[in-house]
Amino acid sequence: MTPPTCRVCGTPLRTFLDLGDHPPSSAFPTPAEALAGAGDTVRYRLAAGACERCALVQLTGDVPHEHRPYAGYPYHSSGSSVMREHFRRTARRLLRTELHGKGDAFAVEIGCTDGVVLRTVAEAGVRHLAFEPSGYSGYHGARVHRAFLTADSAREAVAAEGRARVVYAANTVCDIADLPGLFAGLDELLAADGVFVFEDPYFGEIVRRTAFDQFYDEHRYYFTATSVRALAERFGFRLVGVERLPVHGGQLRYTLARAGRRTPAPAVAGILAEEEAGGLTDPAALAAFAGRVDRVRSDLVALLEGLRAADRTVAGYAATAKSCTVTTYCGLGPSLVPYICDSTPAKHGRLTPGARIPVRPPAAFAAPYPDYALLFAWNHADEIMAKERAFRDGGGRWILYVPEVHVV
Ligand code: TYD
Ligand code: ZN
Repeated sequence: MTPPTCRVCGTPLRTFLDLGDHPPSSAFPTPAEALAGAGDTVRYRLAAGACERCALVQLTGDVPHEHRPYAGYPYHSSGSSVMREHFRRTARRLLRTELHGKGDAFAVEIGCTDGVVLRTVAEAGVRHLAFEPSGYSGYHGARVHRAFLTADSAREAVAAEGRARVVYAANTVCDIADLPGLFAGLDELLAADGVFVFEDPYFGEIVRRTAFDQFYDEHRYYFTATSVRALAERFGFRLVGVERLPVHGGQLRYTLARAGRRTPAPAVAGILAEEEAGGLTDPAALAAFAGRVDRVRSDLVALLEGLRAADRTVAGYAATAKSCTVTTYCGLGPSLVPYICDSTPAKHGRLTPGARIPVRPPAAFAAPYPDYALLFAWNHADEIMAKERAFRDGGGRWILYVPEVHVV
């Protein structure tokens, strides 16, 4: 078998993590589909490697295109008030900076989100456009170009709207297979002094927190400042800003500008030096990370088996994409986690991918409360624990597995 190669530069990848065969993380079958042997039967190899040359961490396997989610599964908002506030703040900041005092400014978002950024920008009177193949936006008044951002779709948009001051993307670039195509689109779309701002899970935080559940089919890339700098330079851009974000378990926001247009902020050199000093993608560090991942699996299985033996009741909380990685990798099924409560109506009455754990509405959580709740949305822990305070007040305990298995 030929070794997997980097999607951007073609260099062989050094595989450092192999979590086995997994179903697509958004394939929630109905019980009838599951009985008929359908709904979540596709499997792909969930393994990750680092490029020897450009340091880009990426999945080595892929879900066959026809089973990618865009076809049948609508985007599910995180349902998090913390995330909505995060996006509102982001939009206000762009309005104060990049979009400020520039006459008839034009802002673009790639990928569908809760729609808060576009709504906030539009309400401030700034023209906007979303590039989203599904046509969906959480902001129902959004103007949406039903296409990926590529050179062709960008030219169409520029012909109609002119060039953009800002292109923004949250939790989207990490899932774009064709990064050269994306940069060709940015080159067409951005004004000469425009910026591309994007944020995604930060590989440095994934390693620090042993957050192996960030690995799933819809996250192809796990960026670092080092790899984003190389990526930008390959396509005529520069990394001119980085900012750590506390959301989703630790993200980085990157600002790219055309080469020669802006001086990088001091924070860029700072984080590059930190990544270099920490040997973030060195083989030894990655091997240690893989060892810690294995340890989380054995600890979590031992804990849940112990609770079952002691007749303690357990429920899962939040049927996230991350939960698909955890249940599949750890071999957790309904005998250890009988059901998962989740706030997404479209998931209710369905089964989780692969593990086939029934998903119930949040109201089922208190009817009656389990003794233990396994929190699969640990990135929203503060918000969820505050909302479910009565669970812990009544003696319930949360099980977390990041950065290691523990009970609170
Ligand atoms: P997110 O971390 O965005 O999940 P993913 O791993 O799929 O990207 O969390 C969103 C999921 O968590 C979604 O299925 C809804 C669920 N959820 C709840 O059930 N209750 C909550 O309070 C929150 C914030 C999320
Ligand atoms: Zn590479």
